[in-house]
Amino acid sequence: MIKFDQKNSIFYLTTKNTSYIMGVLNDTVLTHLHWGGKIAHIDSIETVITDAKRGMCAASKRLDLGYCEDVIPLEYSPYGTTDLREPSLVLRYADKSAVGDFRYAGYEIVEGKPALCGLPSTYCEAGDSVSTLIIKLEDKLNGINLYLSYSVFDEYDAITRSVRLENVSDAPVEIDRIFSANIDMRCLDFEIITLEGAWCRDRFVHKNSLLNGNVSISSMRGVSGHNRNPFFALADKNTTETQGEAYGVSFVYSGNFEGGVQKDAFNSNRVYIGINSTDFSEVLNAGESFTAPEVVLAYSDEGLSGMSRIYHKLYRERLCRGIFRDKERDVLINNWEGTYFNFDDEKIVNIAKVAKEMNLDLLVLDDGWFGVRDHDRCSLGDWVVNLNKLKGGLDGLAKSINDLGLRFGLWFEPEMISEDSDLFRAHPDWRMPSGKVTPSPSRWQYILDLSRKEVQDYVIESVCAVLASANIEYVKWDFNRNMAEIPYGGTYKYIVGLYRVMEEITSRNPNVLFESCASGGGRFDPGMLHYMPQVWTSDCSDALERLSIQYGTSMCYPYSTMGAHISAVPNHQTRRTTPFGFRADVAMVGQFGFELDTTKMTEEELQLSRDAVAKYKKLREIFHTGDLYRLKSPFEGNTVALEFLSQDKNKCVVCYYVERCHCNDACELIKLHGLDANGVYRVEDTDKVYGGDFLMKYGLDFDPNMDYKSEIVVLIKE
Ligand code: GLA
Repeated sequence: MIKFDQKNSIFYLTTKNTSYIMGVLNDTVLTHLHWGGKIAHIDSIETVITDAKRGMCAASKRLDLGYCEDVIPLEYSPYGTTDLREPSLVLRYADKSAVGDFRYAGYEIVEGKPALCGLPSTYCEAGDSVSTLIIKLEDKLNGINLYLSYSVFDEYDAITRSVRLENVSDAPVEIDRIFSANIDMRCLDFEIITLEGAWCRDRFVHKNSLLNGNVSISSMRGVSGHNRNPFFALADKNTTETQGEAYGVSFVYSGNFEGGVQKDAFNSNRVYIGINSTDFSEVLNAGESFTAPEVVLAYSDEGLSGMSRIYHKLYRERLCRGIFRDKERDVLINNWEGTYFNFDDEKIVNIAKVAKEMNLDLLVLDDGWFGVRDHDRCSLGDWVVNLNKLKGGLDGLAKSINDLGLRFGLWFEPEMISEDSDLFRAHPDWRMPSGKVTPSPSRWQYILDLSRKEVQDYVIESVCAVLASANIEYVKWDFNRNMAEIPYGGTYKYIVGLYRVMEEITSRNPNVLFESCASGGGRFDPGMLHYMPQVWTSDCSDALERLSIQYGTSMCYPYSTMGAHISAVPNHQTRRTTPFGFRADVAMVGQFGFELDTTKMTEEELQLSRDAVAKYKKLREIFHTGDLYRLKSPFEGNTVALEFLSQDKNKCVVCYYVERCHCNDACELIKLHGLDANGVYRVEDTDKVYGGDFLMKYGLDFDPNMDYKSEIVVLIKE
């Protein structure tokens, strides 16, 4: 998996289908040679770096005069050299200089993958074929060591990167920027695929050509954000969902990030991602070290779906943790859209009674159960049950729900504080920022300063106390505003504090399933998935919108991580009315549930719900662990098709959805992928059979002549 060709100074990192290759030029500069399809051997670094000198470029003092660092592909590029492209690292030394001189200083290969201290990351388990290369770069001038780590997940086909900086001088150094990856990829005519949107319009797929100059994505919201996800893919213009080369870059971090591609005049693409440097500043004292968050790289020559499948398996199995990682999860009823703040225990128990008749497993009580919170202007921070609403307390309610045969779950928004709360009255300085700046409210609320240990401890103890007070088996952890007016450098410190809080609470409560949420998918990122294995995908529960939202999300994240509910019609966000079957078929590919007042459902709807729950329970394994092929995109047409294929290729489920029909439209042939060409597949519960080759080369016919139509076809290999 990791090989060093000493003679030519070339490192080879190899997974099942990928090579990542670096070379050390003149024993000094670490260059990037290749990331993509497998290459067993490169004769010499000069075979790749042929275009090494240009007019107006300084010849590097660290190399011989044949090379200009500004035009050769580098693996990491600290500021202060003759490479004048986007720097990966900006340090300011005690003498105010920012010029460093990092030189290659050796490597180490370790079995497995060391944990990243205090940060979320992918991991390996005993028996996994994973090893890690750590390359050391040394700046003797300033007494700084830089360690670039590469973990090679052979079977998972992924490579992760991270960076550690160590101050071995006797003076402090200021870190102004520390990206987690830099890859200079040469001469490819790429498109960049990003996931963009806004609240309720989370993670729509955008494709753009690269321009000369920078194409970048970022967040300055203190969260990874609804607007741009910390993920992008690069793909050749001819790459489709099922063929061609695709390169994925995913950042395991939940705060401000920046990433992108800088294309130069010689068609070199500098790919980078890391913590957003606009408001980042950390002081590294003598003897200290700093670790930047992880980046996960996935390359596939089987198109964008091929790239997504790499992320899906890795994130499902080696990013998510805990006992729920591999468990089929409960089908739930959440009361938010059913009642909003207007409920009491009687109403909730009545909703649960009907939920039981619908064969649901879990009731989640959403916002409004604590303090005096009958509206969104108060009580955040006061995690004490409102006995006017819930007369038997949480324990009493949990018991009533459990007696009905359902589990009980609860909503929290632990990182927030309302001005009208006992917590604020006791600790006004816990609000962020404190001091002379009065922060601006958003949804009437403010953020607790989780960079402070005593505030972290309050959140840990208050949430754990509620969890210990009743049989609570599920937590929805919300975060309903962006950060603003934060002191310089504060958002990074906050996120590190948040990770401590989440690690502590989730490990103290291993039998509780945690779902993260930030007004829907405002923190749908790999960092959060490390602590909480599912996310409320979007505050928009309209099925038609959800088709696009879930499709976009699946670029990087598996359907097993997406909370998806059937809600009432007309839909509360769009006022659109869609049929029950369509709402069910859209929601059931994710972590399925209902979000409405069950007591208002008709007999017919209750029967349809029971049927949907039964269908979901039969199919959820393949939706959540099967290989995904996206066959028709909502961003490119009027119909959507998804194929889920079991790992053994014996079961295949095709989900077909029509948004709006065009009158008298032609039937649509959808070609399947990945089947056993010689196998015979039967449409479940019918006598229709097809050859695997027929399904892949000719296709399955679907009729798009109805608005909001959905069909789920189950094919079983005979
Ligand atoms: C956020 C969540 C919703 C709901 C409300 C409650 O918007 O995304 O699902 O929990 O908060 O205030």
